[in-house]
Amino acid sequence: MCGIVAGLAQRDISKILIEGLHRLEYRGYDSAGVAVIDPAGELRRARAVGKVRALEDELREAPLSGAIGVAHTRWATHGRPAQHNAHPHLSSERVAVVHNGIIENHEALRGELEGAGYVFTSETDTEVVAHLVDRELCSGLALPEAVNAVTARLDGAFALAVMEQRNPELLVGARQGSPLVVGVGIDEHFIASDPLALLPVTDRFIYLDEGDMVAITPAGIQVLERTGDRDELTPVTREVVRYEHSVEAAGKGEYRHFMMKEIMEQPRVLSRTLAERLDPQGVRLEAFDVSRHSFLAASAGNESGAEGGKQGVDVARLTQLFADVRQVQIIACGTSYHAGMVARYWLEEVAGIPAQVEVASEFRYRERVAAPGTLFLTLSQSGETADTLAALRDIQKLNREGPQAGHYLASLAICNVAGSSLVRESDLSLLTHAGPEIGVASTKAFTTQLVALMLTTLALRQAKGDGQTDDLLSRQLLMRLKDLPHVIEQSLALDGEIAQLAEKFMHRHHTLFLGRGSQYPIAMEGALKLKEISYIHAEAYAAGELKHGPLALIDEDMPVVAVAPMDDLMEKLKSNLQEVRARGGQLFVFADPEVSLKAGEGVHVVTVPGVCRFLAPIVYAVPLQLLSYHVAVLKGTDVDQPRNLAKSVTVE
Ligand code: F6R
Repeated sequence: MCGIVAGLAQRDISKILIEGLHRLEYRGYDSAGVAVIDPAGELRRARAVGKVRALEDELREAPLSGAIGVAHTRWATHGRPAQHNAHPHLSSERVAVVHNGIIENHEALRGELEGAGYVFTSETDTEVVAHLVDRELCSGLALPEAVNAVTARLDGAFALAVMEQRNPELLVGARQGSPLVVGVGIDEHFIASDPLALLPVTDRFIYLDEGDMVAITPAGIQVLERTGDRDELTPVTREVVRYEHSVEAAGKGEYRHFMMKEIMEQPRVLSRTLAERLDPQGVRLEAFDVSRHSFLAASAGNESGAEGGKQGVDVARLTQLFADVRQVQIIACGTSYHAGMVARYWLEEVAGIPAQVEVASEFRYRERVAAPGTLFLTLSQSGETADTLAALRDIQKLNREGPQAGHYLASLAICNVAGSSLVRESDLSLLTHAGPEIGVASTKAFTTQLVALMLTTLALRQAKGDGQTDDLLSRQLLMRLKDLPHVIEQSLALDGEIAQLAEKFMHRHHTLFLGRGSQYPIAMEGALKLKEISYIHAEAYAAGELKHGPLALIDEDMPVVAVAPMDDLMEKLKSNLQEVRARGGQLFVFADPEVSLKAGEGVHVVTVPGVCRFLAPIVYAVPLQLLSYHVAVLKGTDVDQPRNLAKSVTVE
């Protein structure tokens, strides 16, 4: 998705902006651009299609410098990837704008502006913003007021950074629906879509609230809240939060790709996600954070001791809330949705609570009925996924309309980014401490989500247990959870064997993935990983479904990957695998040591470390990640930034 980086400094900003763009590359983009106001007071711009490297080549030919600038990586929505569509967009050589999001009413606004004599040079929705700001400036408004007047007319989601040639000491940002943070430096301040862009220059950030604007001058940072029907701007104080990860955490280290680094980090980040969240009695409810305005806050109104706009949870109130949960509605997209699908098995079997899972883009557009006592649980690595956020906002709107509209008990976000919109807008959150995930294909974020979901499942079981002292299943699961990082370590040791196996996939065009029970979502996740980074068509089926259609696809050219842990469905899965083999299908089975499956003609068996059946989905996800990684490397694709994809999907 588009990335914004902008700043006002006491030195040349252009190198900081280009470094920031490199750090935003992981989000996915097709062109990049930068504009500065140079020491002579001229607005100068450079744009290039392709990687940030192409922009750098252009800048080597025609360097630009200045103390204020805006820069952008574009992921095309309106208008093909082309230099004239790349941001920044200018109006009258006076205004420069970069934008993330979609302006839904851009066609009507474009017609109006063309009628007023503005000439458009791109097919983008963004260009209307530049011309609208210019028009407001011409009418006598100052830049912050002009941007405010313009944003009041925009429908859709956006984050903006705007500067004006006549005023090289003022940078304005606005956020509505798309993420934007302010980087707080010493005598220099910045705006970006993501803190990662600014880590070389600061580790202190202000996470803007929905609807906030910010004005940056040499005198400092002023966050502005829109009040009084949005046309007044009132200064407001927002907390400055220290970023918890180091610059190195966002680097590749010794690895060739971020994806491999992130796969290998899993034992450590799973330990971190578990750390201090378990005690001998079970899951510590203090692990759950509450947002500033949550009814579950330890003492409403007291914001001290809060990290990132968070404060302590009222444990008694949370215990009661969890005890009241009668159903869980899980909402997520992509890989996070697969984590939710695994959790449904856990919630129903371990906590005895019915659960439903749905992709956010479907949930938000249908009429729904919430059963009484429904906990609304969102899952997201980034916490900025537009569809997931929109689903949360939808149910919050329903809740405000009252119980007759279908009341949800509370919203819980399981998320990897502390200051993200999802975390700040949910009643409750549980952070997955995966650290920055840069590879587009989610790996460590997924397995840490699963751990957080198991913790949530156990917390719900505990709350329903009415002080039951000897809960054998909980005790066993807690013990196994503590051992999990070690088991993951063992499954990472399969890397060499899997790298060899990958050669058998590199010339294939299709692959089937099979699993049963809670491994069915793992098969889905394996198929998603393979298709997104190796571009091999891959489909997952619940193995029992094979005979209802997909069996027709099986022949000697069809590799079939199966996940086979030791569980009650093992024998049934084996029969399904026989059905494949009988039709000449090539089997690649990731199996528990106790599953008696013999390798032989057309049957490849990779033995996965033994693990209890509940935690098996977490362990089996890892070899499938390794498989897709090695196939992609053999095929020579762009592993970390696969074509057409973006890391943080902030548009619908
Ligand atoms: C695939 C992948 C995506 C994301 C999806 C949701 O590897 O990463 O499918 O899971 O775009 O993103 P988040 O989790 O940030 O809401």
